[in-house]
Amino acid sequence: MDFSIKAFDTKNTLAAAKTGCLAVAVFENKKLSAAAQALDANGAISAALKSGDISGKPGSTLLLRGVAGVTAARVLLVGMGADDTVTEKSYACAVSATLKVFGTLGSNDAIIAFPLESVKERDANWALRALVLGASEAEFRTDGQKSKKDPAIAGVRKIVVAAPNGAVNKTALTQAAAIANGMNLTRELGNLSPNVCTPTFLANTARKLAEDYGFDIEVLERKQLEALKMGSFLSVAKGSDEAPKFIVLKHNGGKSKDAPVVLVGKGITFDTGGISLKPGPGMDEMKYDMCGAGSVLGTFRAIGEMGLKLNVVGIVAACENMPSGRATKPGDIVTAMNGTTIEILNTDAEGRLILCDALSYAERFKPAAVVDIATLTGACIVALGHHTSGLFTRDDAAHDALATELLDAGKQAGDVAWRFPLGEIYNDQLKSNFADLANIGTPGAASITAACFLENFTRKYTWAHLDIAGTAWKSGANKGATGRPVPLLTTFLMNRV
Ligand code: BES
Ligand code: MN
Ligand code: ZN
Repeated sequence: MDFSIKAFDTKNTLAAAKTGCLAVAVFENKKLSAAAQALDANGAISAALKSGDISGKPGSTLLLRGVAGVTAARVLLVGMGADDTVTEKSYACAVSATLKVFGTLGSNDAIIAFPLESVKERDANWALRALVLGASEAEFRTDGQKSKKDPAIAGVRKIVVAAPNGAVNKTALTQAAAIANGMNLTRELGNLSPNVCTPTFLANTARKLAEDYGFDIEVLERKQLEALKMGSFLSVAKGSDEAPKFIVLKHNGGKSKDAPVVLVGKGITFDTGGISLKPGPGMDEMKYDMCGAGSVLGTFRAIGEMGLKLNVVGIVAACENMPSGRATKPGDIVTAMNGTTIEILNTDAEGRLILCDALSYAERFKPAAVVDIATLTGACIVALGHHTSGLFTRDDAAHDALATELLDAGKQAGDVAWRFPLGEIYNDQLKSNFADLANIGTPGAASITAACFLENFTRKYTWAHLDIAGTAWKSGANKGATGRPVPLLTTFLMNRV
């Protein structure tokens, strides 16, 4: 979708605008928004409301043609709920209903004249971003690997957002588009089949990003990982014929002396569970186990596109978790890069095994903060469902501050997270009789013990962990990657500039 912003005023009126469709808001109790009023000189809109043809409830719509006194071919009335409380939810509902109608119109351009500044506790730039992200989600295709493509997208392709001068800024539009494009990359990578989206594919995608946006890139191969003594990461990669890849991207947008923010992504391109094999039904969904990595790459696309003035390092540890004659067995003890010995009691708890070495590697960047992103535990879905990502940090002042930054960024971006506790009590669940650490805890609090495992490798910097097992993709009929938490991460980085 092509978006632009335009101001309409008394000379250059909405009523005289030439477009295929003009979308304006109406409210419950038959109330018109200012833009709807501006098109109501002949009373056609208020008459439609009076007749009861549209309720004004969030998401209700009514398409009118040939409205007297209006140049546009069509006027689309869109319900936004009660006029004094346009909530985020009612606004989002109105946006998605509008886009649905736009997809059916015999016109390819439209103007949206919504009360952008009326959403409770939000500003007009937020409302603009919701439009851009909504449109991008609506037009996202999943037919990349179908031999017969889904029908071409019909209807509106060009949207002009009506906004008074100064109400929204062009930068907000560029930033919204960058986040949308970043999310689309994350969605595409997540949805691609696991025989295509291999560790090598992720490395090549990162190389392409580096070329397009001028990032530094390094891809470490098995030999180099052996030299670095990443025994934990390599123990997961061992069972697979696919070569592991350790991808390091650098966006040098800040001053050269500024400490970078480091993002670390779990890139298991397929998680069978290994010798601790997962059950068959639904196992295909474990292609999404690289969504942490996907969100790092998507966030890099977004910050590359917007030319973010911040130093950011992205680390992706990518491999498959497969059973084979060479695979790690339950009971095997391996040595991580930092010397910690780990008793692998369950080969399906592999995410933490690849991340712990990536987190040790992150030390060399003397980071301002490290955030790892991982589809780490099924238990996180039990706790939070598919709406909210799990956030884990230590609870000293520096970490409370980082947690607040991330939680706030999530709220701002409509990509929310919720904080869990960590601590000694949970860490005790990871004791092993034979090694420094076990890779699974005693029963209970599985998302927390997973985070505690990682915490052991992050004591040299400020760190947070995002468990995105529930938020990175949707199951069911509309199965697919969501592109989350790219909005949260990008907003977090933008707020740091
Ligand atoms: N990738 C899974 C976590 C997962 C499961 C994400 C279901 C999304 C949906 C992870 O590697 C895993 O298998 N975790 C185990 C840990 C357990 C063995 C302690 C889990 O959650 O069952
Ligand atoms: Mn697993
Ligand atoms: Zn996994």
